[in-house]
Amino acid sequence: MANILVTGGAGYIGSHTCLELLEAGHDVVVLDNLSNSSEESLKRVQELTGKSLKFIQGDIRDPHDLDQAFATHKIDAVIHFAGLKAVGESQKIPLSYFDHNIAGSIQLTQAMERAGVFNLVFSSSATVYDEANISPLDETMPTGMPSNNYGYTKLIVEQLLQKLAIADPRWSIALLRYFNPVGAHKSGRIGEDPQGIPNNLMPYVTQVAVGRREKLSIYGDDYDTIDGTGVRDYIHVVDLANAHLCALNNRLNAKGCRAWNIGTGNGCSVLEVKNTFEKVNGVAVAYEIAPRRSGDVATSFANNARAVTELGWTAKYTLEDMLADSWNWQKQNPTGYQS
Ligand code: NAD
Ligand code: WQD
Repeated sequence: MANILVTGGAGYIGSHTCLELLEAGHDVVVLDNLSNSSEESLKRVQELTGKSLKFIQGDIRDPHDLDQAFATHKIDAVIHFAGLKAVGESQKIPLSYFDHNIAGSIQLTQAMERAGVFNLVFSSSATVYDEANISPLDETMPTGMPSNNYGYTKLIVEQLLQKLAIADPRWSIALLRYFNPVGAHKSGRIGEDPQGIPNNLMPYVTQVAVGRREKLSIYGDDYDTIDGTGVRDYIHVVDLANAHLCALNNRLNAKGCRAWNIGTGNGCSVLEVKNTFEKVNGVAVAYEIAPRRSGDVATSFANNARAVTELGWTAKYTLEDMLADSWNWQKQNPTGYQS
């Protein structure tokens, strides 16, 4: 069993990953500045598992916070979630995105080097792929120039980590390219809690269903897809969390830097998501068709064969499970962790 530092561990994907790490018997230290999360998620993770973790309120851009974390705990590997993730916001305040996501990742790897820790799992995104690639997307396809600053920071950090592992063979780095994470832990005690108006489809759907928003705007119904609406690869957050454990296992026994897609391999349209949500949960989701959203592609889904064969990972949950679990979380926590 290993001692894992989880940056951004209080957030949506981080909290689910902490839970799976504790369940698997690992020790967990979370470093999070709580800029987009609350400590309540970590309290609930500990309640659900009956195990405790260590929490440091700190910032990945601050070398003192990082050095203190490594000095106080004997860390074997780092899972790096901390960062900013709102695509629209990244166009308005690019420097903050460069600072948290790029400078923060550099500070983190420098602190790791000082502490002699060289195993890293990084939260990347399918957004790094060139938009000209045709789905299913696989890891041998070219990356592109993401249309927004958020995506650009993911691409830059991937490239920096690849160069680092080439220059210094002590490093062992996993780049996990997430597709569209949705769902929540089965208990409904932890889940996605976006601040303000959600940017992503799933929290918007659940907030309409719970009465917090009037109706869903479906961004375009004239794409070249099954029903004209955008197609994405939705992946249950618990499956995604488990991919981090598989990647850790792989990296503790290997060197270099390698990318893996983490998606189900199935594409679903926005209308399919809405209709299946209504059917599975027995609630209505009011909607309108709105113009296309700038920067959206018609279709994006994964070829996940590399993760299946090399990491021994599989996605266990269906779209129905994802939608039932998202609703279970939202219903129990209509205003998120503030409830
Ligand atoms: P989240 O906002 O819920 O979690 C990120 C956490 O990082 C938050 O708890 C926040 O407080 C913390 N944080 C932000 N800046 C920090 C800093 N400078 N120092 C310390 N902590 C900081 O987001 P999430 O959905 O859980 O995403 C986790 C990671 O996965 C992010 O890197 C994100 O870019 C990446 N990712 C997310 C998605 C998605 O759709 N959710 C898709 C692909 C990749
Ligand atoms: C999904 C589909 C929308 C909201 C984004 C980031 C990506 C990654 C995941 C972090 C699309 C449609 C959405 C709404 C809608 N994040 N939609 N009405 O755009 O695939 O990916 O989140 O790394 O980098 O770009 O996800 O959930 O925003 O959209 O019709 O209110 O739902 O047009 O077809 P996306 P999404």
